[in-house]
Amino acid sequence: PTPIIFDTDPGVDDAQAIAIALAHPDIELLGLTTTFGNVTIEVATHNALLLAELAGQSIPVAQGAAGPLVKPKNPPPGHIHGDNGLGNIELPQVTTQALKQSAAQFIVDQVNARPGEVVLVAVGPLGNLAAALQLDPTLVDKVKRVVVMGGSIREGGNVTPVAEANIFNDPHAAARVLQADWPLTLVGLDATHRCVLDPQSMAQIVEAQGQLGKVLGESYAFYRAFYQQALGIDGCCPHDSCALVWLMRPDLFRVERGYLSVVTDGLAEGQTLMAPERREFVDPRWSQGNVAEVCMNADGPGVIDWIVDTLVTPPAR
Ligand code: BDR
Ligand code: CA
Repeated sequence: PTPIIFDTDPGVDDAQAIAIALAHPDIELLGLTTTFGNVTIEVATHNALLLAELAGQSIPVAQGAAGPLVKPKNPPPGHIHGDNGLGNIELPQVTTQALKQSAAQFIVDQVNARPGEVVLVAVGPLGNLAAALQLDPTLVDKVKRVVVMGGSIREGGNVTPVAEANIFNDPHAAARVLQADWPLTLVGLDATHRCVLDPQSMAQIVEAQGQLGKVLGESYAFYRAFYQQALGIDGCCPHDSCALVWLMRPDLFRVERGYLSVVTDGLAEGQTLMAPERREFVDPRWSQGNVAEVCMNADGPGVIDWIVDTLVTPPAR
């Protein structure tokens, strides 16, 4: 199995993705690191602990960034994920605790313990990865890969006409992470908007996932109402799960290679830009860091089938 650290701001779609990371036999979940974003940092950590408990698994949880590096914090989007991040449903008590170690330190220690092996999957604002890089710049040579759910190249944004939420919530951290010299895959709205998890598929997941399924299902109902009202579709984009789907089934995505940049202020704050690898441009600011793999399209039905299969009949361990 691939050892991963899952960096998250749970969040309804984060919760689904965590369920996948806990269920899939080809994923070894080393830990959950938490960030503000969909919710406050305290709520994010609470939810990460709860989701692992409901799945009956003992997974380390390390708390991270409480706010963005530079800009003032945007208010959490309670109308999308609920004020408790899980659709405002009633939640069971949490009995476990987060580690004393910070998220950034946890990332540094785990990657150094297994150089060349660990994949960082980040599905919230990118402050923890930026902080880890600052603590230990040699991480760029030691991670196996970084997979980020965030950004949008041609699809347009979901919080402004050009910006995707995870990048918009901390554009300065995103610029550092997306331009670092490490192997990186961006799974943004160009791919995730092609995937819609319909209520019938969700019902199958709920039935198969026991106590965790109940929370996934009830919080999905809240998220679904937002999608219905805001986008006029019946179903939800499983944004964060798509990062894991890419890791396990890259054949379900169409990838382009290019240099990434992030707009850090002004009207287009949070916009992600890509300069195709094979073209030469006069301004060197467009070609900083490594060439990234950017998901520009996805086989939506194929992605949804994979998610449902994984959560309904997980392959044997
Ligand atoms: C991303 O923003 C968050 O609201 C979701 O959890 C996902 O990570 C989608 O833009
Ligand atoms: Ca998220």
